Amino acid sequence: MITKEVWLICIMLSTSLATTINVSRFPKDFMFGTATASYQVEGGWNEDGKGENIWDEVTHRVPSPIVDNSTGDVACDSYHKYKEDVAMLKHLRVNHYRFSLSWSRILPTGFNNKINPIGIAYYKNLIKELRDNNIEPLVTIFHWDTPQPLENLGGWTNELIIDRFVDYAKVVFENFGDDITYWLTFNEPRQTCSQGYGSKQKAPLVDSPGIGEYLCAHNVLKAHAKAWHLYDEKFRNVQKGKVGMAIDTAWFEPDTNSTEDVDAAERLQQFNHGWYARPLTIGDYPEQMKKVIAERSALQGFSQSRLPQFTQDEIKYLKDTLDYLGLNYYTTNMALDADDKRIDVISYDADAEVNTYQKDEWPKSSSSWLRVVPWGLRKTLNWIKNTYGDIPIIITENGISEDGSSLEDETRVNYYQQHLSSVKDAIDDGVNVFGFTAWSLMDNFEWLRGYTEHFGLYHVDFASPDRTRTPKESVEYFKNVIQYGCVLGNSTCDN
Ligand code: NOJ
Repeated sequence: MITKEVWLICIMLSTSLATTINVSRFPKDFMFGTATASYQVEGGWNEDGKGENIWDEVTHRVPSPIVDNSTGDVACDSYHKYKEDVAMLKHLRVNHYRFSLSWSRILPTGFNNKINPIGIAYYKNLIKELRDNNIEPLVTIFHWDTPQPLENLGGWTNELIIDRFVDYAKVVFENFGDDITYWLTFNEPRQTCSQGYGSKQKAPLVDSPGIGEYLCAHNVLKAHAKAWHLYDEKFRNVQKGKVGMAIDTAWFEPDTNSTEDVDAAERLQQFNHGWYARPLTIGDYPEQMKKVIAERSALQGFSQSRLPQFTQDEIKYLKDTLDYLGLNYYTTNMALDADDKRIDVISYDADAEVNTYQKDEWPKSSSSWLRVVPWGLRKTLNWIKNTYGDIPIIITENGISEDGSSLEDETRVNYYQQHLSSVKDAIDDGVNVFGFTAWSLMDNFEWLRGYTEHFGLYHVDFASPDRTRTPKESVEYFKNVIQYGCVLGNSTCDN
């Protein structure tokens, strides 16, 4: 264990070497928090009446599609240890905790014919424990764990799910809404759709590239809008909450300043972020997406575009249904216009007609896709403001993985310091960012990567039946950032 003094010197040194750190203080009411998601931490997969979801189904397949053959059956055991989780949050002095509700724990069949009172009680207890400790709950209604009975009917590719999601949202607004100010309908719908239905990188592992992901997104967007309108009409007056969505994107930096590459980077951002955020703010899909997918579909022999169309009434209904925007940002890619348009390939990735790469000089993490590029976050935040106007933004996820071999996670401390500095830069640029959420409170089940990539501030011992939690060095750092409102984690920041 290194001493606190050495630790601080290390931080200062790495700071001065790596990049210019913004040492001005965050606004007084800026919200700092951490996040998790139900399947990744809860366990209790079949306890107290919970139904099966797509991650239960996929992780129980033989052979397992998970790299270490693991499951979330127990995960961090937060179903039993939520009070310990809240004690950790309290130690960190966070303003908020972002967690997700398990649809199948609340509605075991996925439908609203049967509400599970023990599932409701679990989340009521968690919310009460948070409120008793002055921690604001930030609730994600859906973080990737579709009930299996709905998946059997096509999941997010079948429009039946729109009203089922709204039924579920109604149950959660009714049961928890008096205590919730910040709702997020969906987490990273792009991953649900492009990785779950356009490739086999996430459950339900439906491999329907170029078709499945667009059907999925169409239904997700309609489900969000319908849940937002329901909240707006029936709950907002009394509950006074806000309904947003956590949308992920990387930053795409043009490889050269040629018009082709600049347009390619913008096009790819529209394929990533604009795909979801544009219909819900400005209304309708990005023009770049509509044009390129229609042209490619025609060349590929389809009688209509693979990208479904919204009617004029639907566009009106979708528009302006984000009270605030959640941003999940981890990394950046260089983008260049693809020479080879790969018309023979039917897929979302090929549709963008952009090639990407990451620079060797960008520091690596334990995740193949994640290199450390803090300035990309400032650029993304500015891009959001320039594209959609002055929408309030909260960073709903940001973090880095390591291999779990040490509690001295300097890479994470540096990562957070640089990314928080980049957020402060964006605030100083005039972007309306009101909070920052670290992913994750603790190590957890990282989807197909199982327990091989560790994103937690707290280490979790998955070999122990107690799932013992131990703070990593980053806990001390993040706690100090929150206390001083300053990326240096001490009192030396400028006012
Ligand atoms: C995005 C997801 O929302 C979360 O579930 C995942 O663990 C992190 N990013 C890290 O990959």
